[in-house]
Amino acid sequence: MTGVTMEGTDAGGRAEIEVRGLRKSFGDTEVLRGIDLEVARGEVVCVIGPSGSGKSTLLRCVNLLEEPTAGRVFVGGTEVTDPDVDIDAVRRRIGMVFQQFNLFPHLTAEENLVLPQRRVLRRDRAKAVRVARANLERVGLAGKAGAHPAQLSGGQQQRVAIARALAMDPEVMLFDEPTSALDPELVGDVLAVMRGLARDGMTMMVVTHEMSFAREVADRVVFMDAGRVVEEGPARQVVGAPREARTRDFLLRVLDPAAAAPPGPDQDPADGTA
Ligand SMILES: Nc1ncnc2c1ncn2[C@@H]1O[C@H](COP(=O)(O)OP(=O)(O)OP(=O)(O)O)[C@@H](O)[C@H]1O
Ligand SMILES: [Mg+2]
Repeated sequence: MTGVTMEGTDAGGRAEIEVRGLRKSFGDTEVLRGIDLEVARGEVVCVIGPSGSGKSTLLRCVNLLEEPTAGRVFVGGTEVTDPDVDIDAVRRRIGMVFQQFNLFPHLTAEENLVLPQRRVLRRDRAKAVRVARANLERVGLAGKAGAHPAQLSGGQQQRVAIARALAMDPEVMLFDEPTSALDPELVGDVLAVMRGLARDGMTMMVVTHEMSFAREVADRVVFMDAGRVVEEGPARQVVGAPREARTRDFLLRVLDPAAAAPPGPDQDPADGTA
């Protein structure tokens, strides 16, 4: 836990992720309306907010899966929004974990980790295998190296996806609702792995609806609504004693869904915040 504030990031370690005046439009719709955000080295920042508020778009702009309409993004001091930047080099420094695990179904867990190391980092096979095994062990899956994704639970597949990102030696890790596709009983193992990464000092930006994880693990929580940062601060303040009415309304709905209109039987529960 670094407990770094916006002002403190410059004085302490440099900001590992820095977002300045970030805007993103799709056609006429502006979905990010001027985001300023810093994540210090070793800091864990959880991003929360209603469906459609721009959380995924923000993460996707940080690793240039989306091209920002305006503003600047720096990762490890390099401006990734510089038009002359080597996008592949930038992406190599950023691990990304999505809600859907996107593993290759025809490859074993180990080969899922080996392939990108060989292709992207040009590692020789022996080293790639060594790194793959070490990272499978790190996520508690040393015994599943030879299993194919279909033979693994959703939680195990997601841990393989995390290990795959870690095998690339990223400087920062971005997580976009990594547990929201999982059955409730599988969420805990994935969160435990993420908690371990945080303890090891990984710089992490985590979009999540897991408020207990945010409260417990995040150094800072950022609440977004309608493309803006409405409130940010220490987790215990933003989640425990929010200042803004919009944050309070959102938390009421996610912490006590029964207080909001119950979702219909056909509604995707992940979408139940709208
Ligand atoms: N490629 C795209 N083209 C057009 N509109 C998009 C695109 N991607 C996102 N949007 C729109 O941008 C807005 C923000 O989307 P985003 O996925 O960032 O929200 P979110 O906060 O991640 O929501 P959720 O909690 O449902 O994942 C939404 O209104 C969405 O429809
Ligand atoms: Mg999203």
